[in-house]
Amino acid sequence: MGTPLLDMLKAYGEGQPLPFHMPGHVLGRGLNQELNRAGSLDITEIPGSDCLHAPSGVIKEAQELAAKCFGAGSTLFLVNGSTSGIHAMIKAVVKPGGKLIMGRDSHRSVLNALALFGGEPVFVMPDMDEETGLTLGVTAEAIERAILNNDNVQGVLLTRPNYYGIAPALKPIVEVTRRHGIPLLVDEAHGAHFVFHPRLPDTALAQGADICVQSLHKTLPALTQTALLHCREGYGKWPEVVSAASMLQTTSPSYILMASIDRARDLLENEGEALYERLAENIKVFEKALQTRTLVNRATWHHKNMDWDFSRLVLSFEQTRLSGFEAEALLRTRFGIVAEMADLKHVVLIATPFHDHEDFERLVKALEELSREYKGRNSKKLVKWPDSLPERVIPLARALSLKGREMPINNTLNRICGSLIVPYPPGIPLLNPGERITEDCLAYLEEVLSQGCQVHGIDEGRIYVLDNE
Ligand SMILES: Cc1ncc(COP(=O)(O)O)c(C=O)c1O
Repeated sequence: MGTPLLDMLKAYGEGQPLPFHMPGHVLGRGLNQELNRAGSLDITEIPGSDCLHAPSGVIKEAQELAAKCFGAGSTLFLVNGSTSGIHAMIKAVVKPGGKLIMGRDSHRSVLNALALFGGEPVFVMPDMDEETGLTLGVTAEAIERAILNNDNVQGVLLTRPNYYGIAPALKPIVEVTRRHGIPLLVDEAHGAHFVFHPRLPDTALAQGADICVQSLHKTLPALTQTALLHCREGYGKWPEVVSAASMLQTTSPSYILMASIDRARDLLENEGEALYERLAENIKVFEKALQTRTLVNRATWHHKNMDWDFSRLVLSFEQTRLSGFEAEALLRTRFGIVAEMADLKHVVLIATPFHDHEDFERLVKALEELSREYKGRNSKKLVKWPDSLPERVIPLARALSLKGREMPINNTLNRICGSLIVPYPPGIPLLNPGERITEDCLAYLEEVLSQGCQVHGIDEGRIYVLDNE
């Protein structure tokens, strides 16, 4: 145990070295007051600091400690977020012309990786929760159907948990991918903390995923951009993943970022369960206060084969006149409480062991005030997602390289979409670059926009469409 990387950094600074090496600020001297402290730890590869691309010293040691802690066969430190891990695992698994079966609810980095490395997506639509309009994950049956209906499938990639903390069981999917000899890659960007408390969902690795990526910075006390790429014990293609990651990561990784991974792992390994236990208790008190003092409900999920993350607070404002977007704005501008995101009906907050009872009480007081002021009924109705996925007309990589123009939504029927169009909820792309804009898509967009939904990819009522078909 311990923190080999962080210890090395501290020892280097304490030795009062005179650096004639990168970075140019010379241990913070050239930085201003605010950045100086960070600068004093900001070194690069020097004797004793090891090398991320060929680790044999403190980085190797820290990665091995992380692998053990997170239940992995091997682990790699990432300094460009889960994004770089997603790129690396796709590069390693999907060869040019190969297909990746992916949940339609995947992060944009998945599509970008396919475009970069010449793979093609095969989308599988996740099930939807009728009450909340949120995605519940892709079923094993849908994955198997996609495997049987497509040739040259080289991998399956799923996102679990989603932004709302919903974490469907992976075991039935692992059974399918193993039977077909196809690697299962899991984007566990929002689940880096799962391993630290028994009431949190099982991790992807514990359920048999082959490779998975976790953003430490999203839920753990680690600096922005930090993430881990893991494989299960005995996964044979790990060297290809490592070599892909090495092509994609900077040759000057920040030691501050890497040391923050080392320290977060050490802290959580030693105190994680107690820290999350305290958080669970704070949330229990918070839930009770919500019920007795406010009109705001906490959304929870109790479906079969479905777990959810108790630290993700999904607050529903249906018993008020506020949409989720309006509630988020009021919390921020009036009470200084800044949520992670909002959709038509919900505000989503990320709670961590580093929030205390007073923080939850401040939140309840704000919700109490909003409940009093906006008592009523939210008239916003969920719009039904179109039954079929739009047709892909142009291969992804080509669609991303073609020129296009913005057009008013109403003029885009049958045109080819040039960007991602993502309504919230459910936060999954209605249209991807290269797909045909159908009547169903336009009807859906008209309705959600009239309800005040945010739709990423629509700018002042205009959609980017491709010129060349
Ligand atoms: C589901 C999911 N996957 C991957 C990413 C990318 O993670 P990072 O910001 O660590 O690169 C995000 C970022 O929001 C995400 O929500």
